[in-house]
Amino acid sequence: MARTVDFLIIGSGIAGLSFALKAAKHGNVLIVTKANEDESNTKYAQGGVAVVVDKKEDSFEKHIQDTLIAGDGLCDPTVVEAVVKEGPERIREIIDYGTNFDKTNEGIYDLAKEGGHSEYRVLHYKDITGFEMERALLEQIHSNPNIEILTHYFAVDLMTQHHLGEFVDKSSKDITCYGIYAFNTQTRSVEKILSKVTVMASGGAGHIYSVTTNPTIATGDGVAMVYRAKGKVRNMEFIQFHPTALYNPGEYPSFLISEAVRGFGGVLRRINGEEFMHEYDERKSLAPRDIVARAIDAEIKKSGEDFVYLDITHRSRKDILQHFPNIYAKCLEMGLDMSKDMIPVAPASHYMCGGVLVDHAGKSSIARLYACGECASTGLHGANRLASNSLLEALVFAHRIYEDAKTVFEDAEIPSGIPDWNEKGVQLSNEDILVTHNIREMQKLMNDYVGIVRSDFRLERAMRRLGLLYEETEEFYKRTKLSVKLCELRNLIQVSYIVVKSAMMRKESRGLHYNTDYPEHAESLEDTVF
Ligand code: FAD
Ligand code: SIN
Repeated sequence: MARTVDFLIIGSGIAGLSFALKAAKHGNVLIVTKANEDESNTKYAQGGVAVVVDKKEDSFEKHIQDTLIAGDGLCDPTVVEAVVKEGPERIREIIDYGTNFDKTNEGIYDLAKEGGHSEYRVLHYKDITGFEMERALLEQIHSNPNIEILTHYFAVDLMTQHHLGEFVDKSSKDITCYGIYAFNTQTRSVEKILSKVTVMASGGAGHIYSVTTNPTIATGDGVAMVYRAKGKVRNMEFIQFHPTALYNPGEYPSFLISEAVRGFGGVLRRINGEEFMHEYDERKSLAPRDIVARAIDAEIKKSGEDFVYLDITHRSRKDILQHFPNIYAKCLEMGLDMSKDMIPVAPASHYMCGGVLVDHAGKSSIARLYACGECASTGLHGANRLASNSLLEALVFAHRIYEDAKTVFEDAEIPSGIPDWNEKGVQLSNEDILVTHNIREMQKLMNDYVGIVRSDFRLERAMRRLGLLYEETEEFYKRTKLSVKLCELRNLIQVSYIVVKSAMMRKESRGLHYNTDYPEHAESLEDTVF
């Protein structure tokens, strides 16, 4: 069975949904998403959206500078300026869609502060901002007759000329995307979805590591699909570890303790209660994430303990409950009252700063394929994303893509003769446990050898082990009937390979990539593209 649509979107987080609402003014829109419609990194966003609201204290220039400083030299300044300056208009739209942000008793927006921000500029809804944005967007989507959502549909691969039997190499500018092959998890069959324009909005890849704040959907599928289709990806070595995930052994994924807790006065302490961040950076607990995560990593290595403490006990229970009801409730489940008890925290993989290389209109190197949100590398984040810039980036680029795609789709033709998915020779597996084993092995090796502090020796070790897992998995994939787990394993391994390869190519330390063999910045600024 084949469907044909004007706009096809892979993913139902903030990037996919906000593009869908705009595109639906011009044509029919289909969103495929691999889990429930709201399951996404977006749903779990806590701190909020960074945007210049208060022009008395704050300014575009300050937000631009904070973003550039956090990005450690590798941001594209044109993109930074565009996102910061276009942000307020996009935020007005999302408020018009029905999103609530907290206000003070005086009726003005209650702005929070996070690491690396020189001003209070983070709009939030309690500590569940992403949940609120996703709710408002989905409500709009449900009432739009031009938009259909297929849940529990897993995008397996992009369709390009390759499927028409034409040879395309990576240097060719002529690779075109005609849609996707999608695995319907209810019928367990692969369907063809043909499209005039495709937007990859599949989110991040937190699960290449065994400790992550990301929900289980974050397996890097979009980057792996684009890479297999010979599209370009950039700066994948920059994986952001959030400094303060709740340390709760056995819980997977990890629960996040928002950086906004530090913005609210929370202080990091050693197990013995001493503060330590002043020994690492003058901005102390509110330094950018790469610096705080590295400091905690060093403290954990020194003490031999698995965590440090986050202390907010000097704030009143009433204030804490008002700002962080979700975090308070979660800690209480563990027997911790955060107004009295310090919270054990440790870093966890959190955000993919690199991704599918796109231009200023969100276009990838494959014609008729755009990428938006966490799966895209727009140039905003450079070597380290500034806290709460991700939701903003998704909104701004969804709009930019819309402006471009609405003109592209009208002339786009879909060729005939794209073959059905070929399942010849594959068999049902009775050894799915091997897939689970390989996922665990891969996550562990990424944790052990490609974490916050890297070295050439560790990266080489990781690469050798990944090579073996890659071969085993490809061989298994060729002879086995599709399953979501198997596709995710394949994608996780391919993304891990790209992360390690990119890390090996970067012969310096910058932002989130710290290699003890090259502890300084290199003289020239280079992106890692392949
Ligand atoms: P997502 O929201 O992750 O959506 C991706 C979608 O793609 C999902 O629907 C998924 O199911 C679908 N998908 C993936 N692969 C496939 C496939 N193969 N086939 C079909 N569908 C697929 N950022 C901020 O700016 N502020 C914050 O306060 C903040 N807090 C965060 C807290 C947590 C715990 C986490 C994990 C992240 C946080 N971030 C925050 C980051 C931010 O939430 C994400 O970067 C952003 O929401 C990504 O949006 P997205 O639409 O690109 O991807
Ligand atoms: C947080 O609330 O700490 C997450 C913010 C972000 O990832 O941008």
